Amino acid sequence: MVGTMMDLESSPLERGNPRARSMEEYRALYRQSLAEPERFWSEQARTLSWFHPPYSILDVDLEEVDFSWYMGGRLNASFNCVDRHAAVKPGKPALVWAKNEPGEYKVYTFRELKHHVGRVANVLKAHGVRKGDRVCLYMPMIPETVFAMLACARIGAVHSVVFAGFSAEALRERILDAGSEVLVTANEAPRGPKKVALKAIADAAIEGLSQVRSVLVARRTDAEVPMRPGRDHWLDEEMGKHRSTCPITWVASEDPLFVLYTSGSTGKPKGVMHTTAGYLVYAAMTHAHVFDAQPDDVHFCTADIGWITGHSYVVYGPLANGVTTVLLESTPNYPDAGRLWEIVDDLKAATVYTAPTALRALIAAGDEVLSRSIRASLRVLGSAGEPISPEVWQWFNDKVGSGRAAVVDTWWQTETGGVMITPLPGVTPCKPGSATLPFYGVDLALLDDEGRVIDGGDVNGNLCVTRPWPGQTRTLYGNHRRFRETYFNRFPSFYFTGDGCRRDEDGYYWITGRVDDVLNVSGHRLGTAEVESALSRHDVVAESAVVGFPHPIKGTGIFAYVVLRPDVHVESKEQLIGALKEQVRHMIGPIATPDRIHMVPGLPKTRSGKIMRRILRGIAAGEREGFGDTSTLAEPTIVEAIIDRVASQE
Ligand code: WT7
Repeated sequence: MVGTMMDLESSPLERGNPRARSMEEYRALYRQSLAEPERFWSEQARTLSWFHPPYSILDVDLEEVDFSWYMGGRLNASFNCVDRHAAVKPGKPALVWAKNEPGEYKVYTFRELKHHVGRVANVLKAHGVRKGDRVCLYMPMIPETVFAMLACARIGAVHSVVFAGFSAEALRERILDAGSEVLVTANEAPRGPKKVALKAIADAAIEGLSQVRSVLVARRTDAEVPMRPGRDHWLDEEMGKHRSTCPITWVASEDPLFVLYTSGSTGKPKGVMHTTAGYLVYAAMTHAHVFDAQPDDVHFCTADIGWITGHSYVVYGPLANGVTTVLLESTPNYPDAGRLWEIVDDLKAATVYTAPTALRALIAAGDEVLSRSIRASLRVLGSAGEPISPEVWQWFNDKVGSGRAAVVDTWWQTETGGVMITPLPGVTPCKPGSATLPFYGVDLALLDDEGRVIDGGDVNGNLCVTRPWPGQTRTLYGNHRRFRETYFNRFPSFYFTGDGCRRDEDGYYWITGRVDDVLNVSGHRLGTAEVESALSRHDVVAESAVVGFPHPIKGTGIFAYVVLRPDVHVESKEQLIGALKEQVRHMIGPIATPDRIHMVPGLPKTRSGKIMRRILRGIAAGEREGFGDTSTLAEPTIVEAIIDRVASQE
């Protein structure tokens, strides 16, 4: 039915469904993908190399909301991303590490990647990691992070990457939830002008936690860090003890590949679980089609590996396709706003995939730096993570791409595994600000709040997906009930994205933002409940409410209303605000630090005790009136009181 392991000679990019070269071809293939999904996704599975091909394409258990793709298949993600390319093109660059300091690069060929991955896999095995075990990666953007991910995949272990910007508390919570017994980290992480003391944070996270048996520490800098005997080991020393050959553990299609935590509308992060075959088929296919990937491309995605974009478009998508991928250690504006374009020229990158928040920061720094680079190698400019405004879109297109490269605004989520709404470069006519049209196999619907499907154009609704696709999250780690409730209860039989969306007369989709209590801060997802629960851990806080407000660089800033306990006497407001910000940094991490904190006498609540966030969002956005019906408030005068407080603290 699908290609077998023997099919190594042809590039994966030459297999699978053909790429559309025109809108007619896109529409025809899109129609086919929905009319004959089994044929479509069976064809696409040929891009992978299978130890044993699947006997079925999709099995759905509607009752339990359980989707199984490519049942009967056996494969390995590490084999698909590394070995099969090393077998035919061992000297081809697989990974280019762009170090923190400008001009410093390190290239790993597919053969070298295979050997490093093999050695780390052997280290993991020596530390007792077995198929199905979760391994936590708290890592900076260094090659060892990629080695460790692929090493887990190689032995059937499940990686759980925790973004290195999260605090010790947040890391601890994720280690506990996933039951990780091995932690991989680094001594220190240079990031722009700063150095992050990763090992120290990791130590604090697992303080007194016997669950974690082994800590493997990559040596990124010369910094000495305390190593606890018996538990902590230098990764390079461990690697030196092992062979570079590690046999593949073939896994079943639905065996888990990784867990990745993301925020929802409750305080507890969700362990989104992706499985092997469907995820890899989808990541590889979307990478190929969305970036029109060519075998000799250098693909440059600036995302951190701690987020899904790093998983799918730094690691799994490009490497499954045998395409050279760039790992960026620095920030986009270190040492200045020309950094990304310098890398593009140095490496002759064909693509650059980044987030609007980064583009806004670069725009703010001025266009002069652009004259230092020519960027002639760029064919596709990708954007993801948040709405891109028409102005930013235009700047990306005109200034960065000089009008020669296609801009693709891609909408997707941690839960979708890969891109879901996107233009195809050179094919889809764009409308700046719209992610345009659904990808193959993606069947979208807009629903009104009562759950009725809204047809036609020029309509607004809750964005849902009507049928499974291979890259879809299968469950939340250890909590399938929460999976069903989070995504399938609001609109039964639909996957609900949590986003609001408009569809115009031409069928183009325009994401209007989250309709749940999730904020998108600098392209990072944060639950308002998470920030609130961090604030309420401070003694002086009686209750709090957190909302988003428009922010020029972050897209959404964090605005916190705090009600103090009646017995609290405030000496210095500045000091208290500083302490509250520190509290949030401590509990979650710097990304969650509120931009503004206001002490208010109370919160606007309905008689049943529900906070009317609509009003708080309005006040945070600078509105002072026009809050509509406030008669259901238990205490309508509170609105004026809050406005007065906010105004007086401005
Ligand atoms: C949320 C998902 C893109 C994957 C990385 C972020 C927002 C994402 C877009 C876009 C408008 C976007 C949505 C979505 N979002 N892409 N192109 N236009 N909004 O994944 O952390 O799971 O966040 O990001 O609100 O639900 P995530």
